[in-house]
Amino acid sequence: MSTTVYLETFGCQMNVADSERAGIRLREAGFGFSPSAETADVVIFNTCSVRERAAHKVFTRIGEVRRLRLGREPVIGVMGCVAQLEGSSLFDNNPSVSLIAGTRATDRLPELIGRVLEGEQRVIDLDERGADEKWEVPATARTSKYVAFVPIIEGCNKFCTYCIVPYSRGREKSRAANEIIAEIRELRDYGYREIHLIGQNVNSYRPVTESGLAGFRGATPFCRLLRAVAATGMERIKFATSFPRDFHSDIVAAIDENQNLCEWIHLPVQSGSDRVLRAMRRGHTASDYLARIEAIKKAQRRMAITSDIIVGFPGETEADFRDTVKLVEQVRYDALYIFKYSERPHTPAAKLVDDVSQSEKTARFLELDAVHRRLQRKIHSGCVGREMKVLVERPSSKSDDDMAGHSTCHKVVNFPGSTATLGQVATVQVTEAKVNSLYGQVLSVS
Ligand code: SAH
Ligand code: SF4
Ligand code: F3S
Repeated sequence: MSTTVYLETFGCQMNVADSERAGIRLREAGFGFSPSAETADVVIFNTCSVRERAAHKVFTRIGEVRRLRLGREPVIGVMGCVAQLEGSSLFDNNPSVSLIAGTRATDRLPELIGRVLEGEQRVIDLDERGADEKWEVPATARTSKYVAFVPIIEGCNKFCTYCIVPYSRGREKSRAANEIIAEIRELRDYGYREIHLIGQNVNSYRPVTESGLAGFRGATPFCRLLRAVAATGMERIKFATSFPRDFHSDIVAAIDENQNLCEWIHLPVQSGSDRVLRAMRRGHTASDYLARIEAIKKAQRRMAITSDIIVGFPGETEADFRDTVKLVEQVRYDALYIFKYSERPHTPAAKLVDDVSQSEKTARFLELDAVHRRLQRKIHSGCVGREMKVLVERPSSKSDDDMAGHSTCHKVVNFPGSTATLGQVATVQVTEAKVNSLYGQVLSVS
């Protein structure tokens, strides 16, 4: 019997992609997989540290696993952002943890687990990726059979003052374009119909050489990559996250030229106040951001625009918050992810006095959410009667009779399940606007 591993993933798509690659290496090394923490010999948590609550989750889960497995505890390992940031102090505070693997140790996981199984008490690896690290994930080893996530850049050089990511993920490193394109061609041939180019800041993409991009126009390497990826013929191409300061209007031009580049842009603004944006060191003002939004709104297709906002940053006054409300009213987002500021250890913002009380943070969160919902409702009602191409991804979470998927504008659309099967693209006529989703009837499938 081979040793079995249970791998649980928190956090962003980067972690999902790392877990996929770690899974491949473990299988190659002869490990088996267990569907639950209850039976596995080795339990690994791939962790997120972006907000305090996210970071805390792993400790709750470790406690749960220990209670569940009283007397026959598995090997417990922590990988990902919490592992990278906390390093060996995790051992001291959590005696049941015997393995710590940082954000760039995915390839070495089998060897690290092997050392624990041989009796080493505390195994830790916070090193960089090896020079020969393989990024591609074979189509057969993907988490989803319908949508594939393809990392194009990892790490972050922006150092927004509140954010832990540059510390947990290191500096920006772009993947070679020819590798990315080869992987997307393989996915296309295997039958995938949608891919997402992913990275903390995809539009900061800057590979060491441009091999693979020859012959493709574009104002920036990312624009050239977009055109090259579009030329693979992959049916639906999405990308996230875009960083406002590096957002060139040629991205919009590339989308206009290529029907398979989907009409959705995730462009987090964080705040509508120039004072707060400066304190966050975002490198853009509210009006810089709005100029980019204007360019996006001039696109030939109606683009869906989504964003992240932090409320209650240290020093955020009522007037600053009003500026954020005003910006949200101006942009009218298709979806908005609002977060209450959470202090992260050793970030520059952690040195500021956080003078916005928890109750004030909550009040601002609720008010902004209400403003956004009102505007989103209008956008959603405007979708009624329209036809959308929906990739059928899963049974609906709301009703056993329905299926769900995303439109090309990245909205969740539900529809009667008997009319389309998983992996098909359904043309759905929207009949109803719900709070976080749309509902419709399938006209045809392909
Ligand atoms: N690279 C992306 C996303 C980074 S993390 C970007 O630059 O937009 C995802 C979101 O988490 C951020 O956009 C931000 O809104 C939020 N976030 C990051 N650090 C945070 C903190 N300390 N407190 C609250 N929200 C935070
Ligand atoms: Fe964090 Fe800013 Fe980098 Fe995004 S751009 S990951 S918010 S430091
Ligand atoms: Fe979280 Fe790390 Fe991603 S902190 S959001 S898992 S980069």
